[in-house]
Amino acid sequence: MEPVVEAAALAPQDAVCDLLIVPVFEDDDLGDLPGLDEATGGEVGRARSTREFKPKPNALFVTRAGGAAWKPARIALAGVGRADSGGVDRLRAACATALRTARRQRADTVAVLLRGPLGGEPAARAAAEGLLLGSHNDARYKSEDDDGPPIRRALVIAAAPLTPALERAVEVGRTLGEAANRARELADAPGNVLHPRLFAEQAEALAGDAGVGVEVLDETAIDRLRMGLLQGVARGSAEPPRLIVMRHEPEGAARSPVLGLIGKGVTFDSGGISIKPAEHMEQMKHDMAGGAAVVGAMRAIGRLGVPARVIGIVPATENMPGGRATRPGDVLAGASGKTVEVINTDAEGRLILADALWYARELGATHLVDVATLTGACVIALGDAASGLFGQPDGWVATVRQAAERAGERLWPMPLYPEYDEQLRSATADLANVGGRAGGACTAAAFLKAFAGDLPWAHVDIAGTAWTDKASATQAKGATGVMVRTLTELAVGAPGW
Ligand code: BES
Ligand code: MN
Ligand code: ZN
Repeated sequence: MEPVVEAAALAPQDAVCDLLIVPVFEDDDLGDLPGLDEATGGEVGRARSTREFKPKPNALFVTRAGGAAWKPARIALAGVGRADSGGVDRLRAACATALRTARRQRADTVAVLLRGPLGGEPAARAAAEGLLLGSHNDARYKSEDDDGPPIRRALVIAAAPLTPALERAVEVGRTLGEAANRARELADAPGNVLHPRLFAEQAEALAGDAGVGVEVLDETAIDRLRMGLLQGVARGSAEPPRLIVMRHEPEGAARSPVLGLIGKGVTFDSGGISIKPAEHMEQMKHDMAGGAAVVGAMRAIGRLGVPARVIGIVPATENMPGGRATRPGDVLAGASGKTVEVINTDAEGRLILADALWYARELGATHLVDVATLTGACVIALGDAASGLFGQPDGWVATVRQAAERAGERLWPMPLYPEYDEQLRSATADLANVGGRAGGACTAAAFLKAFAGDLPWAHVDIAGTAWTDKASATQAKGATGVMVRTLTELAVGAPGW
C-alpha cells in the first residue's frame, strides 16, 4: 500500500502531519521559516551550527517539533545541495530518503514543503514521485513487514493559491511514482509466481485499468506469426510464452507518429542449455524488468491521457534448459525471415526482442524504443550509475536522452560501429546471436539493429540499473522501476519530435 499523495496550499506550521520534510539548500538561512527553530526547541539551529546537519544531498536530520503554533509533530531537514538545476532530482531523492525514515518511525501522514528555488511545478512533480518511490518496499511474501506499516497520506505543500498547473504536476508525479512501483512489483515477483501467463494477466489489469487496449497472444497465435526466435527461447520451458500487446489510441490523435515501446520479458533466465553459474542466478527473476517498465509506462500514459498513439509490446517467456530446449548450434528463423545461429542460449533477450521489434513495425509503429536487461557487459561498462543508450539516427537518440533528462533518469550514449556487425557474422545463418566477449553490450545492440529496419530506433540496456543488490537511502533492495518515467515522458513529448 502506498500513501495517497495530494497537493495542498498550507503554511508549513499548519500542516497536520507526523513528519514535515523541509528541503534545505547550501547557504540557506531558512529565513522564510521564522518559527521553525523555536518549534523544535532550538534543535534546528543547533544541528545547523554544529554541522550535525549539512545540507548535502541525501543528508537527513529528524527532530521533534511542537508548541502552540506548530502542527507537524516532527521536522526533517533534508539536504538538497546547491540551488541550481539539479535540485529537482535531489529533491526527489530527498523525499524518497525521508519517506523510508518516516516509515521506520511509524509515521502515518507526512508533508513536504516546496520552498525557494524548489517551489515550482517540476519540484512538485519530483516530490510526489519521491514520496511514492520511497514508500515502496515489497513485503508481499513476508508475514511481517520489517519497514513498518505503510504511510497513509502524503502532502505536497505549496504557497497559496494552489494553481491548476501545480496540482497537475503533483498528479503527474503521483501517476509516475505509482506506475514505477507497479513495475517494481512485477520485476520483484519470483519466477515461480510471475510466469509468462501471469505476467500477461497482470499487464492486462495494470494497463487495461488505465484505458489502454490489451491483447495477449498465446502460443498458438505466436506460432501463426512464425515467431521462431521467441519460440526458440520458450522451447526449454514447461511454461508457454505470451506476446503482450498494448495499444494507447486516444480519440482525435494524429495517425502519426506512433511510438512503439518494446520490453524484454524473460520471467526467469537460467541461461538455458548454456546455463548460468549458481551465484546470483536468483536475481534473474528480474529479467523482465524492461517489459515491466513498458507495462508501467503504458499504465501512466493511459492514466495521464497522453494525446499521442503508443503501442507497447512485451515478449514474455522463460529461458530454461528443458529436454526440448534450443541447443547451441541450432538455427532459428524469426518472423522477419532472418535466420539466426544460436551460439549461446544465454543470449536470449536479443532473440525475443528481434521478433517483437518486427511485430512493432508490422503494427505500424513509426518510432521504436526497446528496453532490456540485456547484457552483463553493460553492467561492466556503466555499473548502476546509468543505463546504456544505443540507436539511430542521432536525432532520435537525442530525443530519447532529453526525455530521460527531464524525467531524472540517466542514459549514457554507446556506439554502434560497423565492426560490431561483423562480429555477428555466422558461417551457417544470416546472423550469430553472440559476437564474442569484446564489446558485449555493443554487439547485442548491433544484433537488435538488424531487426529495427529503417525506423528511428533506440535501445536501452538496463542490466545495471533495473535492480539494487542492497537497500540504499533512497530505495529498498530489489527492482528500481527504471525507465517508466523516461518512456512516459517520451510519449508526452511526442508533438515536439
Ligand atoms: N539477462 C542477462 C543479462 C543480465 C546480466 C541482466 C546481469 C542483468 C544483470 C542476459 O540474458 C544474458 O545472459 N546475457 C549474456 C550474454 C552473453 C551470453 C553474450 C551476458 O551478458 O553474459
Ligand atoms: Mn541470458
Ligand atoms: Zn536474459
